[in-house]
Amino acid sequence: MSDFHNPVLLKEVIELLRVKKDGKYIDATLGGGGHTGEILKRGGVVLGLDIDEDALAYVEKNFKFLASRQRRRKARRSGQISNFKLILVHGNFKDIDEIARLNKFEKADGIIFDLGVSTHQIESEDRGFSFQKNAPLDMRMDRSGESGEVTAADLLKVLDKGELYELFTKLGEEHRARAISENIVRSRGISPIETTDDLVSLLKKTYGIEKEISGKRLAEISKRVFQALRIAVNSELKNIEEALPKAIKILKAGGRIGVVSFHSLEDRIVKTIFNRFMDEKLGKIITDKPITPSYEELKMNRRSRSAKLRVFEKNN
Ligand SMILES: C[S@@+](CC[C@H](N)C(=O)[O-])C[C@H]1O[C@@H](n2cnc3c(N)ncnc32)[C@H](O)[C@@H]1O
Repeated sequence: MSDFHNPVLLKEVIELLRVKKDGKYIDATLGGGGHTGEILKRGGVVLGLDIDEDALAYVEKNFKFLASRQRRRKARRSGQISNFKLILVHGNFKDIDEIARLNKFEKADGIIFDLGVSTHQIESEDRGFSFQKNAPLDMRMDRSGESGEVTAADLLKVLDKGELYELFTKLGEEHRARAISENIVRSRGISPIETTDDLVSLLKKTYGIEKEISGKRLAEISKRVFQALRIAVNSELKNIEEALPKAIKILKAGGRIGVVSFHSLEDRIVKTIFNRFMDEKLGKIITDKPITPSYEELKMNRRSRSAKLRVFEKNN
């Protein structure tokens, strides 16, 4: 168990990617290195990327003797050969093809995307991912500035009523998006919405006009609204849409891509793209139905409850 992040569907991912000694694997969402660590244990070599420098620092410290970190660069200097079993890169998986090529990983045996946020990100006191901790409404996974400076507070400041409505409907699947958007626009004229507490109390007021809202109901609404903002700030859906077609190109013949998603918006994209790969005769879907966590895993890790794993195998 890691305090940084507990890997989800670990056994299933490793089995379905058929991890083997000296195989080359790309962990596109390194996090606390849970999946990477298991691949390394089985003798695989890993190119691990993350958009969040906290993840790289954590893994670098914990896998000291194995890791080489490419600081602020997507690549090694040309011609440099590494003896390391693990190469760490700060980067966005939407650039996976370029990062793989520069690090000589363009013929990967397997690629894993474990989408969403890490426990570390949610639990961090100052990042604004959790509606349960008061913090500035930041929500950027990449705080280096390389992916832009727009925060959740900025979106709440600049988007108009219609744009906010679309955001909460499409990315949060929130039924009361209209009332919430109207209230945001009204409230921000009086005082800015800058912290997670500001936003939660606004949501409470939006509903409280009609009747007292229960803590459970407020938590459900906050979860959807926070999810919508986080997805927008980090362009999460667009990144997956861009990354998967690039990932299949850098996969070896017979290699596999595994994607663990955590909500229906992500899963729908993965399913659609894998079906398209099938239509284009690029290979086959290994998971007719997505794999979900076992009873044992659910008991140990509640955060795994919405996880779904889909796997695609490239033609031989
Ligand atoms: C669920 S965690 C991964 C946990 C990891 N598999 C483990 O076992 O510890 C997701 C990670 O993906 C990273 N991430 C999200 N979007 C990314 C992107 N577009 N490019 C690279 N990393 C990304 C996040 O910063 C986060 O650390």
